[in-house]
Amino acid sequence: MSKTIGVGLIGLGTVGGGVVRLLQDSPCSMRRRTGASLALKRVAVRDLGKSREVPVDASLLTGDAMALVRDPQVQMVVELTGAPQAYEWISEALRAGKDVVTANKALLAERGDELFRLALEKGADLMFEASVAGGIPIIRMLRNGLVANRVESLYGILNGTTNYILTQMTRGAGGYAETLRHAQEKGYAEPDPTLDVSGQDAAQKLAILCRIAFQTTGTAKQIFCEGIERIEPQDIEYARELGYTIKLLAIAKRRGEEVEARVHPVMVPSEALMANIHDVFNAIEVVGSSVGTQVFYGRGAGQMPTASAVVADMVELAERRNSGAGPAIGDMIIGDEATAIADMRQVELRYYLRALACDRPGVLAQIARVLAEERISIASVIQKERDLQGGTVPLIIVTHEAPEAGMQRALAALGRLDILEGQARVIRIEAL
Ligand code: NAP
Ligand code: HSE
Repeated sequence: MSKTIGVGLIGLGTVGGGVVRLLQDSPCSMRRRTGASLALKRVAVRDLGKSREVPVDASLLTGDAMALVRDPQVQMVVELTGAPQAYEWISEALRAGKDVVTANKALLAERGDELFRLALEKGADLMFEASVAGGIPIIRMLRNGLVANRVESLYGILNGTTNYILTQMTRGAGGYAETLRHAQEKGYAEPDPTLDVSGQDAAQKLAILCRIAFQTTGTAKQIFCEGIERIEPQDIEYARELGYTIKLLAIAKRRGEEVEARVHPVMVPSEALMANIHDVFNAIEVVGSSVGTQVFYGRGAGQMPTASAVVADMVELAERRNSGAGPAIGDMIIGDEATAIADMRQVELRYYLRALACDRPGVLAQIARVLAEERISIASVIQKERDLQGGTVPLIIVTHEAPEAGMQRALAALGRLDILEGQARVIRIEAL
């Protein structure tokens, strides 16, 4: 028999508004699919007086999200705020055995372990497709479609803002500050862009993907993270000369019993697929033991792509409740078998190193000696002619694979020598 599932929506902003639109536009097709109706019973917002783009019956609105969670008419709570109280609302809903859908990557990356366990204990479900890569159903793919695989590696462009900035820089539209301003004018970057440009947003998303793909329990803080703030147009140009394109990648790879998990700017071969993901688009390349390489591509943010992922979770939960199937949270619980995140200092990579070196005899030899002392082998060197004014020359060195710890010691040693103007810059290289 067809049921009505009462939905409580917390947040009616960009994503919440999109969800209401989808529920209003296609209720029939969802009922056909689920055998149940999703009925919006309450909508919590921060400012009850705000005018809304999406029409919602004023009687449904409340300023008290906790009262919404506790309302007996609400069986499913959809949290779309990113507010600091989200943990309290979600845990209260789960404690009451109510299913929850959220897009809150920051919360899941930090406290996912606790919330998934609580859901299992209380016989409820917690779904979060929209928390990573917006409209791309990557979580469903990893949890269901690729379940027969041992994931060997995962490379993601998981942040649209930084991909837009790097794409614009690569197209010659300006330096970092100028292209960030363009991104803000277009509404891609927040007025305070720190979370995106520092790589933390991508690290939160990677922490969630690593839990599913590699059974890690680490938080985003355990993921090595470097942003794009120091990338300069000359790095983009030298990368091009060397056959590379610079991208901010979220990378996870098995390394023995551990998994490398890191987010940082990377030089990737310009012909690689990941080098050709442009503007605000996201992409994830997964290598699975049975399927080989698969790539998922699409819009990683924005109102309707993100709402599409939220509604997919709501429909799945309604189907499960209507059919009497129990919660599907079991695979998110990781016990003693958790895979450790490898120490970044032990990770071995190739490096691009750019320095402005004094143009005098023996300088190149001194730099080579510092690298040699750390057993870092040089693969190629480009030295440009001295410009007319300066006494320095741009020097670009590409290394063979070397441990991160050795490269960091070498950078510190180069900084102590009086032969460089400013600090040497390093960008890691991935063959893909
Ligand atoms: P948003 O446009 O800023 O909307 C936030 C909504 O939450 C607003 O309706 C706001 O109410 C409401 N709200 C905030 N604090 C509240 C409180 N204490 N009680 C009740 N309601 C409260 O945010 P968004 O872009 O839709 O993002 C929502 C979530 O989705 C975040 O976790 C975000 O990380 C995630 N997400 C967003 C995107 C995207 O493309 N935007 C993509 C993926 C994931 P008022 O309207 O009254 O201010
Ligand atoms: N700010 C994110 C991005 C979207 O630029 O991709 C939300 O996850």
